[in-house]
Amino acid sequence: MMLKERSTVVDMQIRLAVISNAGGSGKTTLSVHLAYELGQQGFKVALMDLDPQGSLTLFCGLTPPEPEQTLAAVLKDNFDGKWPLMPCWSSHTDNVVICQGGMVLTQTADELVLHKRGAYLLGDCLSDYPLEHNLIILDCPATLGPLPLMALAASTHIVVPVQLEPKSVQGAARLLEWYYYHCRHLRLKPEPEILGFVPSQYDRKRAVHRQLNESLPLELEQMGIRAFGAIRNSTEFANASGQGLPLHLHRPCHPALDDFKEITSYLVGIIQNSKP
Ligand SMILES: Nc1ncnc2c1ncn2[C@@H]1O[C@H](COP(=O)(O)OP(=O)(O)OP(=O)(O)O)[C@@H](O)[C@H]1O
Ligand SMILES: [Mg+2]
Repeated sequence: MMLKERSTVVDMQIRLAVISNAGGSGKTTLSVHLAYELGQQGFKVALMDLDPQGSLTLFCGLTPPEPEQTLAAVLKDNFDGKWPLMPCWSSHTDNVVICQGGMVLTQTADELVLHKRGAYLLGDCLSDYPLEHNLIILDCPATLGPLPLMALAASTHIVVPVQLEPKSVQGAARLLEWYYYHCRHLRLKPEPEILGFVPSQYDRKRAVHRQLNESLPLELEQMGIRAFGAIRNSTEFANASGQGLPLHLHRPCHPALDDFKEITSYLVGIIQNSKP
């Protein structure tokens, strides 16, 4: 498939932290599919794996990196500005790269707690050694520890994938408390904007999914928070990631691909209309 290359230079870089306090809510799946979609539209995208599990490595079909080739190296005091970025799905796109994560980030998380600029380190690196990508996607681990905190402080926007299960929806309320508390506590100015919630793994045959898919957007609306249309449940997502591919490349005509269109075009709108 031929790639599109954008001729226009856009003004603002979106740094999108994909955050949720629930494991398996679809953070890495959303990260990968947004990256591929935006890449297909000609935008330059950098994925960053802040998760010690390093799932993005698997989802991008790459081999586990040496510690010096991960985000952990970027966050060292002696970082010299050479971002360790690997091309993703390079036979299909030139527009997506990844800064890999992995187990070494557990040590990074411990060091962040002691570092005087701990929560601000990634933001500092992005200011000192800017990347030219239109979109940087920060795929976070599920525990709301030092790594997601650092992602929050580095981000311009956050997006929250949530499973349509009562426990997950209740957990999302705690995530919002975490967000509001830390935006204030870290004195983030401007505060990263909540792009919205993305219901994931929606199975319309399940009554609880249908109920929550109706009620969640209304509850969020009362807080001025957008809910994007749900990403449907399909086993093909796991099959695709097992092959190291986005669903687009694994099953190019799969109907679930339509579910990313709303959030993709919303992001494109922000990138194209924003001024620095
Ligand atoms: N829409 C979907 N339909 C069916 N399965 C899905 C869907 N989205 C994600 N999955 C599967 O659910 C599992 C968890 O997804 P994913 O790894 O994206 O979640 P996560 O929030 O990143 O998890 P973690 O908290 O472990 O980082 C994976 O096996 C993935 O393939
Ligand atoms: Mg993940």
